[in-house]
Amino acid sequence: MAEQPSTAAAPPSDLKTRPAGSTEHSWCKAVPGGTGITVFALLLSKPPNISLLQNTLHKLQNSNPILKSKLSYSPTTNSFSYTIPATSHLQIQPFDLSSTADILRNLKTSDHNSVSDFHLIFENELNNNSSWVNTSDSNTDVLFVSIYQLNDEKSVLTLRIHTSVCDRATGIALMSKLVELMREENGEGTKSELLKKMEVGLGIEECIPAGKANKPFWARGMDMVGYGLNSLRYSNLKFMDSESTRESQVVKLGLNKQDTLRILDGCKTRGIKLCGLLAAAGLIAAHSSKGLNENQWEKYSVVTLVNCRSILDPVLIPDFPGYYHSAILNTHDVKGGDDLWELAKKSYTSFINAKNNNKHFSDMGDLNFLMGRTIDNPSLTPSSSLRTSFISVFENSAIHTTSTVHQEIGLEDFIGCTSMHGVGPSIAIFDTIRDGQLDCACVYPFPLHTREQMQELIGEMKRILVDW
Ligand SMILES: *[C@@H]1O[C@H](CO)[C@@H](O)[C@H](O)[C@H]1NC(C)=O
Ligand SMILES: *[C@@H]1O[C@H](CO)[C@@H](O)[C@H](O)[C@H]1NC(C)=O
Ligand SMILES: *[C@@H]1O[C@H](CO)[C@@H](O)[C@H](O)[C@H]1NC(C)=O
Ligand SMILES: *[C@@H]1O[C@H](CO)[C@@H](O)[C@H](O)[C@H]1NC(C)=O
Repeated sequence: MAEQPSTAAAPPSDLKTRPAGSTEHSWCKAVPGGTGITVFALLLSKPPNISLLQNTLHKLQNSNPILKSKLSYSPTTNSFSYTIPATSHLQIQPFDLSSTADILRNLKTSDHNSVSDFHLIFENELNNNSSWVNTSDSNTDVLFVSIYQLNDEKSVLTLRIHTSVCDRATGIALMSKLVELMREENGEGTKSELLKKMEVGLGIEECIPAGKANKPFWARGMDMVGYGLNSLRYSNLKFMDSESTRESQVVKLGLNKQDTLRILDGCKTRGIKLCGLLAAAGLIAAHSSKGLNENQWEKYSVVTLVNCRSILDPVLIPDFPGYYHSAILNTHDVKGGDDLWELAKKSYTSFINAKNNNKHFSDMGDLNFLMGRTIDNPSLTPSSSLRTSFISVFENSAIHTTSTVHQEIGLEDFIGCTSMHGVGPSIAIFDTIRDGQLDCACVYPFPLHTREQMQELIGEMKRILVDW
């Protein structure tokens, strides 16, 4: 392992173009189908100064060069590459009062009446594939920023980012730096550490510590057969409409401080992480949504996403930009009437055992390959739903603490997650512990699943988490 955390995965410093690694390639392939558009939205009660904000974004892009890259696809080699221009040219797209109202009016014609304008704008961004839907387009940006004027006071600032260069850690780091810098532009000087220049890193595969990705040939074959064939046999949530064109929608799952503290303490005393508990609550809620008898077993699959920055070679600093997550897939039998904590412990233990066996490194190539194969052959999944698991969770929760900065810039609310209506789980959970309260954005493909169905499922998960 490396000695010191590094800001660089050590490519030559004059590098201007580099090919996408295989995990990045998988995301590039998934995005046109609707999976892999990451959006962060901030609800602001004071209108930001757009020219100052644009200036700040240029600085942020210049200090995180991968985020100003241009993405290209070469049909002859079937490969994607990133070209890094010398300077940022990002233009904020402003939507004034009347164009925002037009957009909202169009959105409200469908089943969206129960959600706020902020939430609708967020979902609209999550589904804006216009820049990336045509793979053959060359030199497309990976980051788009817009401001929507909701009314005289309130506006929504959105960052829409291509997931191949932006995992959850990158998105959160970018958002927090932006918020800090927005305050500074309102007066004080520039905090230089926020604009520390990062190098363009290598793909995650290039940074796997020596020996950790090795896997006997026979094991590779067995696991591939297992992953590939079994997905047809796993249980899914009821599909409401598997024919119509899909989009991503989001429901929130929140707990108050007291309940959050209780479940975090419960996890601590049992030596597990929250991801195991959230997955277990999801599995129990899914089984009970089917109205099956107790003892009617079902097998569900759970994907746990691991932020690998601290275990790569070289080790990457926490805010190093790019996509450095890997996935571990486990399956669990649920029979109805399951004990929440028992299932949580089981779920977490099978995840951590797989991680201790380096599955997040050794199976990375297999999972990328299968993701690609599924995109090309949706019929490999039940009802061509493109569902490859029931639920996905992050190994570690994001932590957010409100500071005085948020009042100064008028930050009232924020939300962030990634579109999943192409290949993906039925429900992807992006959890944050926000000032001590659990706050999750749960993404699902609509109308394969409906808002009503998901609100019911999430309501049941919440009941399960609160009532044990
Ligand atoms: C891309 O967006 C268009 C317009 O919103 C939509 O009709 C289309 O279904 C989307 N495609 C995918 C794969 O999400
Ligand atoms: C934005 O900030 C710049 C620089 O401080 C200032 O010149 C400009 O007038 C501001 N614009 C608005 C609309 O306040
Ligand atoms: C999608 O984003 C582009 C700019 O990136 C914008 O011009 C377009 O209006 C957006 N589409 C929708 C449906 O909001
Ligand atoms: C995709 O982009 C290529 C090159 O820009 C263009 O020739 C092609 O017509 C586009 N296809 C669609 C469906 O827009």
